[in-house]
Amino acid sequence: MVCQLIFHGTVIHCEECFEPRILKDCVVIVARDGCISHIKPDVPESQVQGFLSTLQLPEVSQVRSLQQTEFLIPGVIDTHNHAPQWSQRGLGGGLHILEWLSEVTFPNEAKFQDPEHARKIYSSCVDGFIKQGVTTASYYGSLHCEATKILAEICLAKGQRALIGKCNMNRNAPDYYRDKDADESLKVTQDIINYIYTLDESGSLIKPILTPRFAICCDNELLTGLGSIATQNPDIPIQTHFNEAQQEIDATLSLFPGFQNEADLYESFALLTNRTILAHCTIMTDYEIDKLQQADCGVAHCPIANTTVGGGFMAAPIRKLLNKGIKVGLGTDSGGGFSSSILDAIRQAIIVSNARQVMTSEPAALSIWECFYLATLGGARVCSLEERIGNFQVGEEFDALVVQTEACGVMTMLQDEDSPKTMFEKFLISGDDRNIAEVYVRGRQLKKIS
Ligand code: GUN
Ligand code: FE
Repeated sequence: MVCQLIFHGTVIHCEECFEPRILKDCVVIVARDGCISHIKPDVPESQVQGFLSTLQLPEVSQVRSLQQTEFLIPGVIDTHNHAPQWSQRGLGGGLHILEWLSEVTFPNEAKFQDPEHARKIYSSCVDGFIKQGVTTASYYGSLHCEATKILAEICLAKGQRALIGKCNMNRNAPDYYRDKDADESLKVTQDIINYIYTLDESGSLIKPILTPRFAICCDNELLTGLGSIATQNPDIPIQTHFNEAQQEIDATLSLFPGFQNEADLYESFALLTNRTILAHCTIMTDYEIDKLQQADCGVAHCPIANTTVGGGFMAAPIRKLLNKGIKVGLGTDSGGGFSSSILDAIRQAIIVSNARQVMTSEPAALSIWECFYLATLGGARVCSLEERIGNFQVGEEFDALVVQTEACGVMTMLQDEDSPKTMFEKFLISGDDRNIAEVYVRGRQLKKIS
């Protein structure tokens, strides 16, 4: 139970389409259950109290009046994030994906065998993402049971909404960092699922997610077992890496000679579903795009990682995916990328789509508004949470950021004539965490810059 909240000012979010709506003089009321009870635009400041009295609310707390240079947006959603990689971000750029995993990532993730190490890094990781306005994250943990439970405890305690999965990986990884066998990997997975449900029975904040690292690291038995957990538990989402880089695709298909592509492969293990989050999807044939559309999978677009680690400049065909109606969100991926900010992911998504347009004959690059959609409502759809978050609707949960465009920082300076849309554009293209003054999840305040 949190305090009732009442805001008045500019509210920006995406409704159905990609173009954000700017609601001026908007009253937003959040009830004590963390859900939005009222949204009413076009209420001048002088009429706010009068409007509130017509509602006959059981209580009326103080109105938080946003200044002309402030606005509310939905919290941003990170659809693909490796929590253990928080402490290795930026390292190993230029390595191809399999070398990067064995030289940089596996030695780092192996350290999460130590619960104290896990607690320290995960605590910093969740704080760091909240600070940057990430109200929901889909996390890969390490393979360890205890560390992954600690990650779940930390998200819950700090109030971040999260999907949390133990990485399944029982082959093609070093002895010091590999599940003993499929059986053990599945048992630990089930143990963690049960534990997350004991922490948060209804999944109000944290939920388990099945996390086969990728098919290279999972044998048939493990993928079969995960597919059957998925089938028996239609509420549990699934995440994996998919068509990330040519080296990875070649290695995958040589391990599974019966398949011509990864879509057929994951489908055969019952892992290609409408609650599956496929990270990267940089190299996609029309056949596979159709398969994703038919299965209604979500795509976690990680434009920073795709251009900094893995081997090459990989520009995912996001416009094509969106034109097909496929769900797409943004991911920071952590890992080898230079940033864990979704604002940076928005900017890199624009750059990469410009590159894709120049390199291919594909239609228009992505606009900044579309990338804002990907960071909010698009991400909610990818995480199967669009009924609860992603924008501001009566009955939905209040996950939100108060943006301050005149905060100390280095975003493009405002000018007197700037419209709310111009201020918003300046924030998206040049703002940072210093402009994210307040962060709310389910009505609970997680950050406030005083
Ligand atoms: N493929 C399998 N594991 C990983 C990972 O940790 N990061 C990325 N980018 N790709 C992967
Ligand atoms: Fe990844």
